[in-house]
Amino acid sequence: MTDPVRIAITGAAGQICYSMLFRIASGGMYGPNQPVALQLLEIPQAMKVLEAVKMELDDCAFPLLVETICTDDPKVAFTNIDAALFVGAKPRGPGMERSDLLKDNGKIFSSLGKVLNDVANPDVKVCVVGNPANTNAFILKANAPNLNPRNITALTRLDHNRAISQLAEKVNCTVPEIKKMLIWGNHSTTQVPDISYCTVNGKDASSLVDQQWAQEEFIPTVAKRGGAVIAARGSSSAASAGNAVVDHIASWVNGTDDGDWTSMSVPSDGSYGITEGLIYSFPVTCKNGDYEIVQGLEISDFIQGKMKESEQELLDEAADVKEMC
Ligand code: NAD
Ligand code: LMR
Repeated sequence: MTDPVRIAITGAAGQICYSMLFRIASGGMYGPNQPVALQLLEIPQAMKVLEAVKMELDDCAFPLLVETICTDDPKVAFTNIDAALFVGAKPRGPGMERSDLLKDNGKIFSSLGKVLNDVANPDVKVCVVGNPANTNAFILKANAPNLNPRNITALTRLDHNRAISQLAEKVNCTVPEIKKMLIWGNHSTTQVPDISYCTVNGKDASSLVDQQWAQEEFIPTVAKRGGAVIAARGSSSAASAGNAVVDHIASWVNGTDDGDWTSMSVPSDGSYGITEGLIYSFPVTCKNGDYEIVQGLEISDFIQGKMKESEQELLDEAADVKEMC
């Protein structure tokens, strides 16, 4: 039998994981032929709920799920893993910005980053979900110098999927007809959903919608969608976030389709003039378990200005967490 892929997941008794774990265990992330082992981490107070989650995973009798470890010891969770999904963190409530969580959540990422650094395989693939995701990933990277920094990423796939869905509704097309959607920047309200390179059935999306819609409706709707879900639901998005994590890792591991790309927050290598080392969302293509930032795109002055605002927000957040890095 093929060796299982081992996936550490923090915050495993929380809302996002209650939908995501079942998707991973049924093959949604690594495919229908790849066994998986889940190494689930929680804080001691949540271990009882985590045991109940394990009971339900067991009761699904998933053919691909070969082992489920529940632990409150990060060393146990992070040993021998191929991927680590950092979900465990406080969510924001109504009226808060994601950056308001930095003080409380940032320290989770400095302490878990140190343990990951000590026990994990240096090439482990990391996806940070807990908010503010980009700066938490930045903190984790700073505390895990033994790891391959390229593999420390944060989730902007939810924003990417939201953007596709908004455009599909606007131009009345199906989701697979849309290619090359793009999110630049931070997973925050300064993010830059950009349809400049997007096509719908091979036609330029920009020719199908007016610029005013793209700039004044599309961008703010996508950027503020997390807040809109909180206002409607009373708590933050969970199933769509879990789905986006599945998509993020599946694209990274299995590759993006020819003629398409996806959006991932990755350490900037200076592409598009973005400060090196910031965890910034770029268009990426994935192949053979690795990603490349798409190069050479011409950027309009309008998008460039917004990209810089989002970069500045990340620089300000990085300055705020200097003592954790
Ligand atoms: P939740 O409160 O339902 O669950 C969080 C879980 O994390 C809890 O069970 C808690 O016990 C656990 N936890 C806290 N500290 C931990 C630690 N040190 N180690 C391990 N586990 C720990 O929250 P949720 O709805 O699952 O959301 C989790 C995070 O994801 C929040 O920060 C939320 O804002 C964020 N989020 C991000 C995106 C994104 O697109 N990046 C989308 C949705 C939510
Ligand atoms: C989202 O975008 O839904 C999440 O980041 C949760 C939030 O706080 O908006």
